[in-house]
Amino acid sequence: MGRLIIISNRLPFSLDKDGDKVSLRQSSGGLVSAIKSYFENASAQRGGEATENVWMGVADFPQEDWELVVATHAAEQDFSILPLFVDKDLYDNYYNGFSNSVLWPLFHYFSSLANYESQYFDAYVQVNQLFAEKLLPLLRPDDQIWIHDYQLMILPHLLRTKRPEATIGFFLHIPFPSYEIFRLLPTEWKKILLQGLMGADLIGFHTYDYVQHFLQSAKMLLGVDSYFHNLQYQDRLVRIDLFPIGIDYNKFHQTAADPETEQLRNKILDNFADKKIVFSVDRLDYTKGLMQRLNGFEYFLERYPEWREKMIFILNVVPSRDTIPAYNDRKKMIEEKIGTINGRFSSISWQPVIYRYNHLPFKELIALYQAADVALVTPLRDGMNLVAKEYVASSLGRGVLVLSELAGAASELSEAILVNPTDTSDVASSIVRALAMPLYEQRNRISLMQRRIQEYDVFKWVNDFMDQLAQVKQEQQKQKVKLLDEKVITTIRRHYQRSRNRCLLLDYDGTLVPFSRIPSEAAPDNAVKDLLLRLTADPKNHVIIISGRDLSSLDRWLGEFNVTLVAEHGASTKRRGAAWQQMVSVSDLWKEEIRRIMQLFVLRCAGSFIEEKTNTIAWHYRNTQAGLGFSRSRELLNTLSQLIQNTTLQVIDGNKVVEVRIAGFDKGATALKIIGEMDPDFTLCMGDDTTDEDMFKALEGEAYTIKVNNGASAAQYTILSQQQVLPVLTLLTSELPEPLQLPKTKYADS
Ligand code: UDP
Ligand code: G6P
Repeated sequence: MGRLIIISNRLPFSLDKDGDKVSLRQSSGGLVSAIKSYFENASAQRGGEATENVWMGVADFPQEDWELVVATHAAEQDFSILPLFVDKDLYDNYYNGFSNSVLWPLFHYFSSLANYESQYFDAYVQVNQLFAEKLLPLLRPDDQIWIHDYQLMILPHLLRTKRPEATIGFFLHIPFPSYEIFRLLPTEWKKILLQGLMGADLIGFHTYDYVQHFLQSAKMLLGVDSYFHNLQYQDRLVRIDLFPIGIDYNKFHQTAADPETEQLRNKILDNFADKKIVFSVDRLDYTKGLMQRLNGFEYFLERYPEWREKMIFILNVVPSRDTIPAYNDRKKMIEEKIGTINGRFSSISWQPVIYRYNHLPFKELIALYQAADVALVTPLRDGMNLVAKEYVASSLGRGVLVLSELAGAASELSEAILVNPTDTSDVASSIVRALAMPLYEQRNRISLMQRRIQEYDVFKWVNDFMDQLAQVKQEQQKQKVKLLDEKVITTIRRHYQRSRNRCLLLDYDGTLVPFSRIPSEAAPDNAVKDLLLRLTADPKNHVIIISGRDLSSLDRWLGEFNVTLVAEHGASTKRRGAAWQQMVSVSDLWKEEIRRIMQLFVLRCAGSFIEEKTNTIAWHYRNTQAGLGFSRSRELLNTLSQLIQNTTLQVIDGNKVVEVRIAGFDKGATALKIIGEMDPDFTLCMGDDTTDEDMFKALEGEAYTIKVNNGASAAQYTILSQQQVLPVLTLLTSELPEPLQLPKTKYADS
């Protein structure tokens, strides 16, 4: 089994030096907590099967202390460490700069705090490159690489370009914001970030919303469309999915029985024997809503004076990113606010807020979770929030969780009291509700949440992610289309010659004829006509031209041949020797609104034009300035997708065309129907466009499927250019005893 290589900005520990005494302290934050607990118990979870685990990250100690770290870390055998040493100024621009003064605020919807300095972005790219340079020479083919979080969004791409076959997963531990927020980033940066992520095989997020937001940005900025959370990006399948991170449930639940924890807990309970305890613990971060929480708490004391002296609020703030002004300023504000509250409400024997600014040792944290009657977890935005889950897991059957509805965890912990963290009176009344909640209700709610957290714990999270990653790799393997070589041609030819009832399904534009700048000029030339005449002369052959074209063009160009014609992806069909049949006969009214919008886009994008067919209306941008056409097409797609919601229409992002059509007609269904009626003993299907993929998928196992042009496809085989179509068709269907040479073209069609 290959190694599991975890890569995150931060290593799981920091080096604490106190004179001669050296110790390693676990780094703060949800990412480290989760993965470290996984490693501590991973082999037990996998039935003792050991994998070599490596954790790579930036060292927050100087290179000369590395030996010391190795010696101190030696006792921990769960994983080995691969440290990256980065120059201080560079690190500052990458970590304090781009990571935490651009991406962090923006992705948490604090767009006004984002500072778009170009030296920040340059440093971000450089540090991602340093990661790649250090890792690449050490990689083995069967390694599984799992990159974590927003600090390393470009790394997947950097590794992919050098190791096309590598297995690379990426997980984002923070929210992925809506497209309207993401697009605030300078154009080049946001593209590089998305392309960076697309270097992974699997990209994981905490919630369904984040997945949707990412897919929307990928569609708007890179033009990649999704299919059941799968994206086809530059010949590769990339899967996007949600994996709500879990915790090591048993570690938290079982530590309750630990004598030291019990002693700590009893001490806290004794100290506040006649009082209820409200507790919160967060890193010092504006996203955690500490100021709003304190406002809510102040209002609670003011509005519900009966609770004064009967409760205390233990507020533990964990130091974090304190060299960034937005953090340091917040610290001062919080401390002032606590001073105000304590000054205003304290008596000689009571002080409402007990404030600590420190890292909590693990057992003390559990003791506090267990002693707390109420946990107040009210971030303004949070990717997930593990503190909420840890509080629930540590509970001995009592306690109430008050949780922000804006934390990712809220979608799983619905039995918590959910609050809007900015709503002062909501926070205050939720504290009262929690303090007054009867014990049986506390127990009910906690046990429901515990069951859920226990079920999808950190081990399930990792295993689920790794299983999906392996699945994506398998699917990519399946998808690899083989170049149509002479051996395959011989096989197909033999089958062709043996068969008596053949179906030849051929796409028109881009397959039988090259793409033309003006759709009405794509008439078949003599070579196409000759081929069709030859093929249809053989009574064993049934040729079907299956196209997205309108009925009248097909009729004009091909009506004289003894072939079946399928127009508009199946909306109209003309069987051999029969008349045209319309599959739908609804009114044309729906087109008016769509046409009006498309006309606006024609005005806004020189060179674009509208094409109307019986059942479809399309906006073409193949003749426009490349960048402009693409970005307008994203806007149009967005507008149309919203407009046609809850209708029977469908919008398609085609090859340089945005098309709206009546849903229910696609080439796949149409091809299957024809095949079903003909029951052939030989079927060949050729096409080049997105809509032809429907045929390739539908005919899997039923036909020889050939895609024209390079690119990922559901087809079995590929030929590199449209110019090869006629020669290949001639070869496959010729009665000559020996195969002819397949002509070679230097360039694939773009
Ligand atoms: N935590 C910590 N040091 C402390 C107190 C808590 O590392 O002094 C841990 C806590 O147990 C939790 C993590 O920090 O696992 C915080 O994760 P969360 O997802 O709540 O927020 P994040 O800090 O990742 O934004
Ligand atoms: C969050 C982020 C992590 C980060 C952690 C602590 O959990 O998602 O990537 O490591 O906060 O922040 P820090 O900046 O100290 O690493």
